Amino acid sequence: MKFFVDTADVAEIKALAETGLLDGVTTNPSLVAKSGRNFIELIKEIAAIVPGPVSAEVGATDFDAMMAEGLYLSTLAKNIAVKVPLTPAGLRVCKNLSARGTMVNVTLCFSAAQAIVAAKAGAAFISPFVGRLDDVGHNGMALIQEICTIYKAYPAFTTEVLVASVRHPQHVVEAATMGAHVATCPPAIIRQLFNHPLTDKGLAQFVADWEKSGQKILAA
Ligand code: G3P
Repeated sequence: MKFFVDTADVAEIKALAETGLLDGVTTNPSLVAKSGRNFIELIKEIAAIVPGPVSAEVGATDFDAMMAEGLYLSTLAKNIAVKVPLTPAGLRVCKNLSARGTMVNVTLCFSAAQAIVAAKAGAAFISPFVGRLDDVGHNGMALIQEICTIYKAYPAFTTEVLVASVRHPQHVVEAATMGAHVATCPPAIIRQLFNHPLTDKGLAQFVADWEKSGQKILAA
């Protein structure tokens, strides 16, 4: 399973890249606005930090403008995935850019039917938003299960399931259980994946006992 970080905060991306476990980055217009950074400069900087896919979302919503923006974004770095909304125009852009060899991440997916049409449009990634579905009383992870089942039934679908709008580590665990290809998580959730109170407690005990033993593995 691949881990992407869902942020436009360069300091956070650098810190997580140091773990060696970061496979890519997703951004969206809200995260970019929050960063206060120039979008193009920001995307170039992020793409130089992480070798894996970096999602950069178009700002327009009509086909011609999205196509022009997507073509430009794809020139910023080799590892750009152009992110488009799951609309008829967005899928048309997806089909065109994918045919040119550009990775496309189709975002704002809330149904299995939408995931099917995105796969048919040649998306490299489909981004179902699990947390936003949970927020309105639906079951976000049930959608992931449904999409994974459908995609597995059609080997010609090469689209990767990118679980987005992740709210807690259990979303990641369930996504992995279902065989989803990628989870994109806010930085705090990626850090939570490493933690368990029994690990902290056990380590403190081992450190104390090792000190009591008076031994050293390497001579001073
Ligand atoms: O970047 C897309 C998605 O992960 C957004 O998540 O937390 O705004 O629902 P959220």
